[in-house]
Amino acid sequence: MILNNGNYIPSIGFGTSLIQGEECVKNIKQALKVGYRHIDTASVYENEKEIGQAIKESDVPREEIFITSKVWKDSMGYESTLKSFYKTLENLQLDYLDLFLIHWPRNNDRQLNIDTWKALEKLYKEKKVKAIGVSNFLKHHLDIILEECEIIPMVNQLEFHPGLMRKETVDFCKEKNIIVEAWAPLGKGKMLENEELKRIANKYNKSVAQLCIKWCLQNGVIPLPKTTNENRMKENKDINDFEISKEDMLFINNMEFFYGSTMDPNKS
Ligand code: A2P
Repeated sequence: MILNNGNYIPSIGFGTSLIQGEECVKNIKQALKVGYRHIDTASVYENEKEIGQAIKESDVPREEIFITSKVWKDSMGYESTLKSFYKTLENLQLDYLDLFLIHWPRNNDRQLNIDTWKALEKLYKEKKVKAIGVSNFLKHHLDIILEECEIIPMVNQLEFHPGLMRKETVDFCKEKNIIVEAWAPLGKGKMLENEELKRIANKYNKSVAQLCIKWCLQNGVIPLPKTTNENRMKENKDINDFEISKEDMLFINNMEFFYGSTMDPNKS
């Protein structure tokens, strides 16, 4: 896919929120080996050093990997965001990032969101980061950025899976040319137990994980699935040989909420 600044972003990313230590180094090396070229981390995941090590130890040139990180809630504000960004770069042993995001909006402190965004704009203008964006911003949070700032975010990363489409925000992002990324596209594994999704996946001879990943893509959303298993890494990328029909897309798009994390963007 292409971001609103013309940069390329690989249409499937690899989520890393639950892995740390040696397991993380191994996991990321495997992901690179099976062909993932888009790695999503965050300072709060406390695995940036390991991801940096894995990238260094892999055979894949840095320029071929799209690397995202995020500034956490406790580092928001102009100066502390800059400081957090440079710590992230140091941890990852990199001299630029492909994408840097505000991890969560701050409710009840409009100015803090603005100051944080202005730090991201500075880093972008100085070419320390190739694209900037937000995460967990609903439409009303995005309004603050659009009203006050110079650069429109290139990405908004949201929890997104069947039953949790955040239609108002996603439609707004599409209108503004902001690419939506899906965290927990498999609902942290919970989607895989759903009988309706199993029934639809069976029709295509695909797993529910593959169905959910393809469903994100057909909705124009970049999925960031996580797995610690090499076979499942391959499985989650093996989605190019089928197309979900219009009726099935509509059916999944209209599914009622049945699982979601308890993380609410309106409470932070
Ligand atoms: P595992 O690491 O054992 O593969 P999400 O990306 O929505 O957060 O979901 C991650 C969860 O889904 C993890 O528990 C992961 O477990 C599981 N998972 C990822 N890919 C698959 C797959 N293809 N089949 C079954 N479970 C999967």
